Amino acid sequence: MNIEVSENKKSDSSGKMISIIPFFEGEENRNVNDDFRKSLSEIGFNGKLRDTRIVSFPDSKEVLCGVGLGKREKYSLDLYRKALSSAIRDVQKTKISHVNIVLPEIDIEEEALEAAYISELTLYEFSTYKSKANNGKAIEKITIIGKSSLAGSVTKGEILGKATNYARDFANMPPSDGTPTYYEKLAKDLKNVKVTVIEKEKFKEMGMGGLEGVSRAAREPAKLVIMEYKNSEEKPFAIVGKGIIFDSGGISIKPSAGMQEMKFDKCGASAVLGVMKALSEMELKVNVIGLAPLTENLPGGNAYKPGDILRHYNGKTSEVITTDAEGRLVMADALAYAVDKFKPKAILDISTLTGACVTALGNNIAGLMGNDEKLIKQMMEASSRSWEKVWQLPIDDDFREQIKSTVADIKNTGGSQGGAETAAAFLENFVGSTPWLHLDIAGTAWTQEKTAKNEYLGKGATGYGVRLLCQFAASIFE
Ligand code: BES
Ligand code: MG
Ligand code: ZN
Repeated sequence: MNIEVSENKKSDSSGKMISIIPFFEGEENRNVNDDFRKSLSEIGFNGKLRDTRIVSFPDSKEVLCGVGLGKREKYSLDLYRKALSSAIRDVQKTKISHVNIVLPEIDIEEEALEAAYISELTLYEFSTYKSKANNGKAIEKITIIGKSSLAGSVTKGEILGKATNYARDFANMPPSDGTPTYYEKLAKDLKNVKVTVIEKEKFKEMGMGGLEGVSRAAREPAKLVIMEYKNSEEKPFAIVGKGIIFDSGGISIKPSAGMQEMKFDKCGASAVLGVMKALSEMELKVNVIGLAPLTENLPGGNAYKPGDILRHYNGKTSEVITTDAEGRLVMADALAYAVDKFKPKAILDISTLTGACVTALGNNIAGLMGNDEKLIKQMMEASSRSWEKVWQLPIDDDFREQIKSTVADIKNTGGSQGGAETAAAFLENFVGSTPWLHLDIAGTAWTQEKTAKNEYLGKGATGYGVRLLCQFAASIFE
């Protein structure tokens, strides 16, 4: 699908097109013709938020779609995103290939970016494995009606949307196909991104005992994939994404009900891939290094076991209480390595780390933790601009106490209480004094039918974090 800006509406070769026109509740829209105005009022359309009406006329090849934005006083960019998304879903059903989007003239630049971004997200479908895509004939062209000066915003929205979908595609892949090797290929497909891969033999020799332990019973070769995008002379910002291709729990095996969802345990690594794609395509003036420790977590005769003690890259040891708290073990090595090798000015990890975070914050807000209040504030600011929500959780001495081990430096679980915080307290051991943020995306990384709140995110991987981290990266290189 192609998105462009033009002052004129675009139709297919036969002249057919559909145009989305926004209305504030109870207000006239001066830019529409009398026929359309009349038909809308005849069918009782009044601009109510998210009310979408499609009207066609016998002697016109242009089908019109009125969409309600609600009352002008209550308008926000977020409501615009939701209303537009509902309209796009309805428009899609008409099977008309050329769609025009008329903007509501509020901030214009912001709305233009969101129109492109939300179009990409709403129309996403994971259809790789379907003989016939659900949506059938796809929308081929979207024209956002406006002056050519909006092109920059539209391109940005399109890049962010496509990169988020790139992340969703990998995250949605079945675990036997969405392997570390396949991730490596996707990383190497990115332009202007330098990719280095550390294979198992090497990372074992380098002392990454966490990644080595968790990957011991994996059939698919485990990897640490490193992606560098350098377009600034400043010290780099490192982002590390949890890439557990499938989390069975290992020897501490999970209950089988719902286990298929653990293919989404690679969503952190997927987000990092999307971020690298978006940053490099937007040519942002940043220096960002993405790292993804990738492996399956499986049981087997050769699997790591509860009771094992692993030695991490920075020399710290951890006692394995449960092989299901594997994420922190692999992230520990990737964080410690990134800090040592790249001396970043800041480091962030994004991980589907704990069920406890889902219990605490639900499915629409990620847990935010870290060791630097200034960075935390900057992340909250980035979040308010990217619409991917975060909420800060504490790391204090009680949680550090909970993960003390009698036989090693720390242990990999602090029990059932404060699970998101003790996981963060574990990771804190591997970043030294580098300013660090931790995002627990266990709740936000994918939706189930029952938890899908945003109409622009269908069922499955959401790509949460791609836009947020791009926004954040841009803000720390300003
Ligand atoms: N990948 C899971 C976390 C998870 C659980 C994400 C549910 C999304 C939904 C992680 O590896 C895990 O198993 N965590 C355990 C930790 C516990 C054993 C200390 C958990 O949260 O139950
Ligand atoms: Mg686990
Ligand atoms: Zn996991």
